[in-house]
Amino acid sequence: MRTQVVIIGAGPSGLLLGHKLRQEGIACIVLERQTGPYVLSRIRAGVLEQVTVGLMEQLGLDARMKAEGLPHDGFNLADGERLIRIDIKGLTGKEVMVYGQTELTRDLMEACGSRDLEVVYEAADVALHDIESDAPYVTYTKDGVEQRIDARFIVGCDGFHGPSRKAIPESVGRGFERVYPFGWLGILADVPPCNHELIYANHERGFALASMRSQTRSRYYIDVPLTEKIEDWSDDRVWDELAIRLGPDAAAHITRGPSLEKSIAPLRSYVFEPMRHGSLLLCGDAAHIVPPTGAKGLNLAASDVHYAAEAMLGFFKANDNDAIAGYSAKALARVWKSERFSWTLTKLMHRFPEDGPFERRMQLAELDYIASSEAAQRSIAENYVGLPV
Ligand code: APR
Ligand code: PHB
Repeated sequence: MRTQVVIIGAGPSGLLLGHKLRQEGIACIVLERQTGPYVLSRIRAGVLEQVTVGLMEQLGLDARMKAEGLPHDGFNLADGERLIRIDIKGLTGKEVMVYGQTELTRDLMEACGSRDLEVVYEAADVALHDIESDAPYVTYTKDGVEQRIDARFIVGCDGFHGPSRKAIPESVGRGFERVYPFGWLGILADVPPCNHELIYANHERGFALASMRSQTRSRYYIDVPLTEKIEDWSDDRVWDELAIRLGPDAAAHITRGPSLEKSIAPLRSYVFEPMRHGSLLLCGDAAHIVPPTGAKGLNLAASDVHYAAEAMLGFFKANDNDAIAGYSAKALARVWKSERFSWTLTKLMHRFPEDGPFERRMQLAELDYIASSEAAQRSIAENYVGLPV
């Protein structure tokens, strides 16, 4: 079989790119290792920047997001006692959209049929071949039968553990990594949020985040050492800890309820350079990971897709080879700035084991500075709503 672009992975990166290419009349096929329901069972962050909202708008797949998503024009930092509101709308003129990644993925998935985007689920043993040539191909096994797809480009949208990044020889690629000594314990519950906007709290006992999926569904997190076991965290223990860390005002408005989901996720910062090698481009988690502080993961995937689609359009519609050559540098420039913001916010809001009383005072002084400085708030706001693409 032959196509123009093979996309590996049907997470948000792969589906967004697939729909973009199909909209432009570029032939492509998406190969996904898991089943559709499995892909939708993964619970991830839910704050969309304009780049992500804009892609859904361009695709004409924004109706449910506009109806059910919650536009937010501010969020809060907390230092254990007070809330420091970052007025993102007032400071930048822009807002963010609170809409779960799962819902966005569902919208993309459900539109595949009507948009003629072919996704092969349960594609096993996906392998990339001849990526340094102009005629790469992908092999995989479906229902026990080996298949081969020839293409002009392969785009790796297969997440951190997929085969695409690993297909780039070690002699040309390099990963940059920071692993954090704690994870986020997340809880999802059908209870109203404790606050109408998100709260990122840095309490003496650790980090907490109050987020939401809707007016009736809340998502909360606390940081815990990676040695903690989820079995040791009853719902009550999580609610108790959240009430302490989020501070008295938020605590007064927390509604407790049984967890629909509860898990511990490790935090990592990772960037792989370059994001293109030969006829292989990488998008999303295949090329980089951010810690969830700031909710940049999905939004970075969306900006990669924006640049990758632009490069493909340049190549297929205008015979512009430079468009492909420029992809990695363009995407990485934005990736590194989002990595910087996610890392800075993580450092500001978490207790690190090596930190002592001095570092704690530094964090509190920085939070106090942010509370008193519009310039500091503006810098945070422009990063939170997303830097331009
Ligand atoms: N063959 C085919 N598909 C694969 C393979 C493989 N060998 N390995 C992984 N995949 C699929 C995964 O099953 C998954 O559905 O690639 C997809 C990658 O999806 P994500 O991990 O969601 O990555 P991405 O689409 O880049 O989305 C980035 O999702 O991980 C979050 O925080 C991240 O919000 C960010 C966003
Ligand atoms: C979430 O709602 O899951 C969420 C929100 C903001 C973050 C991370 C996660 O920074």
